Amino acid sequence: MDADMWTHSATRHNLNCLQAAGNRLIPVEAGELASGLEGEGRMAQPEAIHRLVTEHFSSHTGFAGKKVLISAGPTFEPLDPVRFIGNRSSGKMGLALAREMARRSAAVVLVAGPGVQAPAGQAIDCIPVSTAAEMYKTCVEQFPSADLAIMAAAVADYSPVHVAPQKIKKKEGRLLIELEKTKDILKELGRMKTGQQFLVGFALETNNEEAFAKEKLLAKNADLMVLNSLNDAGAGFGYDSNQVTIFDRDGRKTTYSLKSKEAVAADIIDYIHDKINQ
Ligand code: CTP
Repeated sequence: MDADMWTHSATRHNLNCLQAAGNRLIPVEAGELASGLEGEGRMAQPEAIHRLVTEHFSSHTGFAGKKVLISAGPTFEPLDPVRFIGNRSSGKMGLALAREMARRSAAVVLVAGPGVQAPAGQAIDCIPVSTAAEMYKTCVEQFPSADLAIMAAAVADYSPVHVAPQKIKKKEGRLLIELEKTKDILKELGRMKTGQQFLVGFALETNNEEAFAKEKLLAKNADLMVLNSLNDAGAGFGYDSNQVTIFDRDGRKTTYSLKSKEAVAADIIDYIHDKINQ
């Protein structure tokens, strides 16, 4: 439709009637219209339509009625108005988890770090954040009403003590930046966790992987720890594939092969589903 037609009161009225009768609406997209004007009214992309229809009729309804909180991507810690300290996380693993959870009928809240775009056409409530402190605040606010939380974000461990109000100018000699520890979100959720909630963490390691992952599982009071090792080819930051090992509180260790991040998300969610329904 052209924008005038799409926003016309008669169209709105008819759409409201259809939705009130329980029909689901696939949202239109904005962009160039048949008239050459820009606006809302373009048909959704076939992939988005396919995803929504699949999700709607999916037999995987294992998480229906569950609220799932997922964090994804990096955090950016500002130094001045133009610079920040960040990391190489793309957020692809967290996004794949959010999409798979939505496909299985969960009510997904995605706390998305910089550069992480919510997938179009899926029932995902995306809350964009930038710093570790913002991610902490949002997750702590959302967690009490969640049934399950998966902390897949690569949160900065340190943040500059002082943020310069103006651009820091170049000078002779060294520039020293004082950093302070950020709050550990997963650890805080582990402290808040009730007996009805399930908590999943990620451990990104370069050495001593198994020992560190097991240590984090206990120290952060998580129910599962998903280990990624940067030593595995094709796994970790920026790749479309990942290779993970899951550790649980019963001392079980499950190693998966290198797969697409979508397939890894399905494996992790199958594991969580089995664990919750044990
Ligand atoms: N995490 C968090 N808040 C932080 C740091 C980490 O919630 N401030 C979470 C991550 O989202 C992940 C888990 O803790 O689920 C482990 O993160 P990782 O970076 O592997 O470990 P750290 O606890 O930061 O420890 P270290 O950097 O010493 O390995």
